[in-house]
Amino acid sequence: MQRSRLLSPICEYTELLNRAFSYQPQAIVELIKDSGLRGRGGAGFPTGLKWDFTAKAEGKKKYVICNADEGEPGTFKDRVLLLESTDKLIQGMTIAGYAVGSNYGIIYLRAEYKWMLNDLMNKTDEMKNRGYLGKNILGKDFDFDIEFRLNAGAYVCGEETALIESLEGKRGEARNKPPYPAQEGYLGYPTVINNVETFCNVPYIICHGAEEFKKFGTDKSCGTKLFSISGDCEAPGVYELDLGSKVQDMLDLVGSRNTKAVQIGGAGGATASEKDFDKPICYEGYPPGGSIMIFNKSRNMVHVLRNFMEFFEEESCGQCTPCREGTKRLTDAVIRIDRGEKLNDEEMKTLLELAEVMKITSKCGLGQTAANPFVYIYENFREDF
Ligand SMILES: Cc1cc2nc3c(=O)[nH]c(=O)nc-3n(C[C@H](O)[C@H](O)[C@H](O)COP(=O)(O)O)c2cc1C
Ligand code: SF4
Repeated sequence: MQRSRLLSPICEYTELLNRAFSYQPQAIVELIKDSGLRGRGGAGFPTGLKWDFTAKAEGKKKYVICNADEGEPGTFKDRVLLLESTDKLIQGMTIAGYAVGSNYGIIYLRAEYKWMLNDLMNKTDEMKNRGYLGKNILGKDFDFDIEFRLNAGAYVCGEETALIESLEGKRGEARNKPPYPAQEGYLGYPTVINNVETFCNVPYIICHGAEEFKKFGTDKSCGTKLFSISGDCEAPGVYELDLGSKVQDMLDLVGSRNTKAVQIGGAGGATASEKDFDKPICYEGYPPGGSIMIFNKSRNMVHVLRNFMEFFEEESCGQCTPCREGTKRLTDAVIRIDRGEKLNDEEMKTLLELAEVMKITSKCGLGQTAANPFVYIYENFREDF
């Protein structure tokens, strides 16, 4: 792991919370808005705006949920934050609770991370004993506590509304939106739901201010971002880069040579080819998810695509037809191509139309992005078909 701002200590715990409590709750919301912080879970929604909606929503109770599901293939940056920046995560959630008027925090943890649950619970117990969580935090008229829940392994449960269904003990399936969780979330109460890394950025903004945060990144993509980088390179791992860094800069950093393709933003992200390596990774370029996978020139991109499509077919919850049927049909086609069959132009045209229908009509982000690798890989690596 490259040493980074997100992982280094920022300021002493009591000092940080006192500094946060010196603001009125709405002033914290405004500060987060001013910082330009956008959600680090993939969609890049402005965090301050999300907190504002929740703060202004009517509800006897409100919830703050940390999405620690981290199910995206190739992503492992939240694992590092959960282990090494637990303080920042707890601080970020506590400050979110104070800002939106919530006393309840929940960390929804990826099933495969069960091994870290005890340590995380010990940490929240310790924070309670030190007066940083629980009743009247640091003597203030503000209570906030955090509990943990485990996912059972489904990728779709990382989608925020499926996550909430799962928390409520129901089958993990996406809900129709609206209403959004900020209005009607967990148990019908207004709910802020953010990624681990999003919360971990909050202490820095409280400590150093919005302007300092905006010195990193670009105008529309403020700050730095953690990337889990894997595949054909000398030094895979978790790296913190300025948003807006070029694909080639990232490849140089991890010692990737002879690179054929870079998968940016998980299986449903973009597949960049050599002609695109000067493009930036940011919301106005290649949208940054948590994962970057590198493939060198020895790789056959149809094999890669088959892997992604089989994943989506397996993980589709089956609730809506475009995703359930679309992932199956695209996977079947890729398997035929992988076995050496050549599909004619008419068949390819139909598959590309299907990809477009899936994008427009699927109910949640899984189906809306599942056809991306099919389209990108077909467009950029046609020689492998
Ligand atoms: C299929 C699917 C899986 C997702 N998995 C995760 C996940 O593991 N972690 C995460 O933070 N967001 C995940 N998301 C995004 C969430 O729905 C949501 O946008 C995010 O938790 C909001 O937090 P943020 O604003 O801080 O990014 C997923 C979305 C989809 C469609
Ligand atoms: S898009 Fe896929 S995962 Fe999402 S609700 Fe529809 S079937 Fe389920």
